[in-house]
Amino acid sequence: MRQMKLGLFLAPGGHHMAAWRHPDAYPYGFSINAYISVAQICERGCFDMLFVADVFSTTREGGRQDSFRFEPMTLLSALAMTTKHIGLVATATTSFNEPYNVARKFSSLDHLSGGRAGWNIVTSSSTLEAYNFGREDHRELSDRYRRAHEFVEIVRGLWDSWEDDALLIDKESGFFFDASKMHMLNHDGPQFSVRGPLTLPRSPQGHPVLVQAGSSEDGKNLASQFAEVIFTIQRELPAAQAFYADIKRRAVSFGREPETALVMPGVMPVVGRTRQEALNKYEQLQALIHPDAGVKGLSRTLGIDLSGVDVDGPLPPIDVAKLSQSRAVGMVETARRDNLTVRQVYERLLVSKGHRQLIGSFTDVADSLQEWFEASGADGFNVMPAMMPTGLSDFVDLVVPELQRRGLFRKSYTGSMLRDHLGLPKPSAIGGAC
Ligand SMILES: Cc1cc2nc3c(=O)[nH]c(=O)nc-3n(C[C@H](O)[C@H](O)[C@H](O)COP(=O)(O)O)c2cc1C
Repeated sequence: MRQMKLGLFLAPGGHHMAAWRHPDAYPYGFSINAYISVAQICERGCFDMLFVADVFSTTREGGRQDSFRFEPMTLLSALAMTTKHIGLVATATTSFNEPYNVARKFSSLDHLSGGRAGWNIVTSSSTLEAYNFGREDHRELSDRYRRAHEFVEIVRGLWDSWEDDALLIDKESGFFFDASKMHMLNHDGPQFSVRGPLTLPRSPQGHPVLVQAGSSEDGKNLASQFAEVIFTIQRELPAAQAFYADIKRRAVSFGREPETALVMPGVMPVVGRTRQEALNKYEQLQALIHPDAGVKGLSRTLGIDLSGVDVDGPLPPIDVAKLSQSRAVGMVETARRDNLTVRQVYERLLVSKGHRQLIGSFTDVADSLQEWFEASGADGFNVMPAMMPTGLSDFVDLVVPELQRRGLFRKSYTGSMLRDHLGLPKPSAIGGAC
């Protein structure tokens, strides 16, 4: 029986924009212990993976909880040592990195976690990031994706630098490795020139799992060609089904098996033993939203300055065609369709970064996940607990057993690598030119 995949989208204080202000939220700090305990709760719930997002910039918005963040590979290296099963997925941008560095870091994480690494490929959307890399502006979206395509091809080629049995460590013969099983990449393309090989043997998974989350045409093409997990932001089932079908169709057009491109929409659950309990928890969080944080956060997401607008009036005119982020486009379109005020946009949509909110009893939440899963709207879910750590433990202790009872989710891990959890094949080592 097909079973759903579950990942945690890690946000130390929780994904609800005001959750960090709640008295029960993790005292936000840079203690590794909080992260370790979150990862271990996920393993208790047999989650497939946990995901650490990343951007190379921050703002002066004092109300933001996600202004500070660990460098993801450093964090995941620490978590690799304190967990046994869970997949460890991190963002690395193709816009402000070099392919050789990225290939090496993820291969290292795959080796030292015993085959649990995954790379979330992003092209970065904020100009603020460009300022930290000697640039005045960010490249155009299509340019970014062109670079990303070549970047990913190179990283995959570098991961195939060595055949699986290249390492001999033969003390008798004196051969540490078999040089005939080494492949130079010799990539010479429009954006990069990379000779190879990588300074690491092929990693346990062959290739760390590739993840992607763009929803523009270019983003979907990159995802369908390469990504094995696709994160997305659908809030309504018909849109999710259309996105799902579109990704699978594109993946097939790239010669892939559709089940190797797993679509995982994000969902922000607020779970109670009863529906009323969940609603109470949600209302407590909503009451903590500071209007200033709402307006500033919305300004940033939509790329326009909303300071001074009437929060109880409509959004000012916005040219959707100029918005590069699908997250922003979705918010503006929903606001227009439902005649939302500025306050309603941040209270209803921004509050979960545009992601679907699931507020209800554990059976309500399980019903909804099951519906999307069985109606070809999702292969699984990127779980974004509104508050941490209680939102995660509610999900693990209430919703997961319900999904298990229905046969929709595993009761224990059956493999050791992320590819095993996700049911993905190990790519064969093709090797570049010798
Ligand atoms: C669940 C999820 C996680 C994301 N994580 C990151 C991230 O860590 N860093 C980043 O720069 N962008 C992140 N993004 C943004 C997308 O990767 C993408 O850059 C953005 O949606 C713009 O591309 P698009 O216009 O193709 O959608 C994320 C998006 C989603 C839905």
